[in-house]
Amino acid sequence: IIGNKNNHKLNGKHFVVTAGGTREPIDPVRYITNKSSGKMGYAIARSLIKQGCDVTLISAPTSLEIPKAVKYVPVQSSSDMEKAVLNHFKKADGLIMSAAVSDFKVAKVANQKIKKTSSDDFELHLIKTHDILKEVAKIKQNHQITVGFAAETENLIDNASKKLRTKKLDLLIANDVSREDVGFNSDFNQVTVINDDNTKIAIQKSTKEEIADQIVQIICKKINK
Ligand code: CTP
Ligand code: CA
Repeated sequence: IIGNKNNHKLNGKHFVVTAGGTREPIDPVRYITNKSSGKMGYAIARSLIKQGCDVTLISAPTSLEIPKAVKYVPVQSSSDMEKAVLNHFKKADGLIMSAAVSDFKVAKVANQKIKKTSSDDFELHLIKTHDILKEVAKIKQNHQITVGFAAETENLIDNASKKLRTKKLDLLIANDVSREDVGFNSDFNQVTVINDDNTKIAIQKSTKEEIADQIVQIICKKINK
């Protein structure tokens, strides 16, 4: 409802949201990616918009409709995403890093389509990508809030808490991706939000839309504290 103050808690704020799974090229027609659909990040972008926030959505390719009112920045690889994030974060009040960024990329991308040879095996040499959140931590200012996601298949809370500390985040959304009914590609999710003071908020299984709204409410409280 327009004019409902409750709906405009982030008026005048600018957030950068990342979404989707990056594509690391192998050759002109092939790439390495992951199961991320982008749904969680797009839902967060829409929730922020509902709160009156300006949103820059930096997105790897997805099959989703671009949310109305976002500034849309399409990217492909993790290094494209890194450049876009570092550039837009400078002027932002916060970053929500929901993208599934590849941890490795192909060391030497082929200029031409790789041909089969007579050999029965084929090796791809991969090298580490930059950790975008760690790069962001180096330039982060006090007023800026950073939120990460942790995709885990085991030891969810322990592993996620470590990421919160090493990436110097304000909030970490711990996501169990071992389940079929929630997480990657599903319309549903179930997450635990971990605060930088180590307090935790468990959000029950619900649609990504509802989870996004709850995450954004937690962010609003943190900002207006
Ligand atoms: N992330 C990032 N840059 C990368 C890899 C991940 O910024 N190169 C961000 C993700 O967007 C996410 C958070 O870091 O918000 C955690 O990602 P995740 O894959 O769960 O953790 P990693 O630190 O990559 O560790 P691992 O995959 O080994 O568990
Ligand atoms: Ca990773």
